[in-house]
Amino acid sequence: IYIFVLQVDKVIEAFTLSDEKLMHLSTKLFEQLFKGLGQATNEEAELKMLPSYVTSTPDGTEHGDFLALDLGGTNFRIILVKITPNPNSNIQMDNQVYSISHKLMTGTGTKLFDHLVNCLWDFLVERDMMCQLLPIGFTFSFPTRHLGIKKTILVNWSKGFTASGVVGEDIGQLLNDAINRKFKNFELKIMSTVVNDTVGTMVSCAYDHHETCMGLIVGTGTNMCYMESQSNTEMLGDNFRSLEGEMCINTEWGAFGDNSGSLDEVKTSYDIAIDHNSPNQGEHIYEKMISGMYMGELVRRIIVDLSAKGELFQKVDEHSILYDGGFSTAFVSQILQPNIDATMTMEYLRSFGVTANIDDVAKVKKICEAVSVRAAALCAVGVVAVARKIEKNRGHVRMVVGVDGSVYRKHPTFKNVLIDTTRRLAPELNIGFEVSTDGSGRGAALVAAV
Ligand code: GLC
Repeated sequence: IYIFVLQVDKVIEAFTLSDEKLMHLSTKLFEQLFKGLGQATNEEAELKMLPSYVTSTPDGTEHGDFLALDLGGTNFRIILVKITPNPNSNIQMDNQVYSISHKLMTGTGTKLFDHLVNCLWDFLVERDMMCQLLPIGFTFSFPTRHLGIKKTILVNWSKGFTASGVVGEDIGQLLNDAINRKFKNFELKIMSTVVNDTVGTMVSCAYDHHETCMGLIVGTGTNMCYMESQSNTEMLGDNFRSLEGEMCINTEWGAFGDNSGSLDEVKTSYDIAIDHNSPNQGEHIYEKMISGMYMGELVRRIIVDLSAKGELFQKVDEHSILYDGGFSTAFVSQILQPNIDATMTMEYLRSFGVTANIDDVAKVKKICEAVSVRAAALCAVGVVAVARKIEKNRGHVRMVVGVDGSVYRKHPTFKNVLIDTTRRLAPELNIGFEVSTDGSGRGAALVAAV
């Protein structure tokens, strides 16, 4: 028993980061923001600081009908957005979700884009809109580089996507080509604006809260965008930047820690194993310690390790969820629900082939807590760094972070730990968090409108 306690406590300890350490990491991330913005240093910077060419947030005068397409995880969504301008500004949406199989995520780009367009076809047919041409806001939640307003190149895939022939290509063009293949008799001319989900989230939130200057996603992946002074966006080169006003920059902060080893001091053996087993090894290290795609897997690896050492569970069925890859972040959320007691957790674990006693339940809960708290605290590290950067540009003002993503919305404790840690690390900053209403739909349409 003594050894057992020691093992679990050791793991918990490895996942517990002091405020001092968090501040230290925040300073490192803050430095990376500057590196990414500098012309000479952008190449080697971890944070790619991708320009979005979105230079203003909505003011309520936007109007029109738009289609928003949203690809970024296991689902693809199509949304018809109707925006009514001031004084009765109002946004109506009609949307449909289509699933993206693992086969499509990892097959050819042509098949993937053909599938998206087949969904679009069905969506339009069902609404009797076949002959209408609407501007499209395409929320494409992967690192893309905008080469001017019309060209958007995929830098690299993340979140388990590997579809071939897409990296380095113009996403808007791939979509248009697929549309032309499918709609060849319709002579459609599509105008699409490609938007990162963080940007959509920020813009959508800014429609309701004018102090919004950051867009945060904590879902399958994690990322942040924010409004930066154009005079600081040196990496754009003199021909492409104005020295006045602001531009929204997609930080792609998931890549923090990729080259500099900044996160090495807090990485555990479980983090290292997750990275080794991922399709994008060595990339998006920060994301792998925070987001929903990995949180359940981290907990699973810890539990498997401790149970293999005979220190957890009396019995584990070999078909248990612990071995079939089905232990997702949703389970972590379930185990941390405030109204679930030990007996319910035992039942819950039993339904997945794990026989746990009351001690096991307490330990599993502790593990889920430690992994979740670390994720939220690391996310706060980034929020504080970006907020400091904004304060440097704008002075002491109120800053609102528009947030979206399944972890932020559904995990029972993530949100509060994120907000508390942010306040603790930066009590002098005036930061508010607002759940953004459907950034990828509303936001993408608003970006197209703006
Ligand atoms: C990944 C993508 C990024 C996206 C984030 C959240 O980090 O690279 O573009 O914003 O996931 O979906």
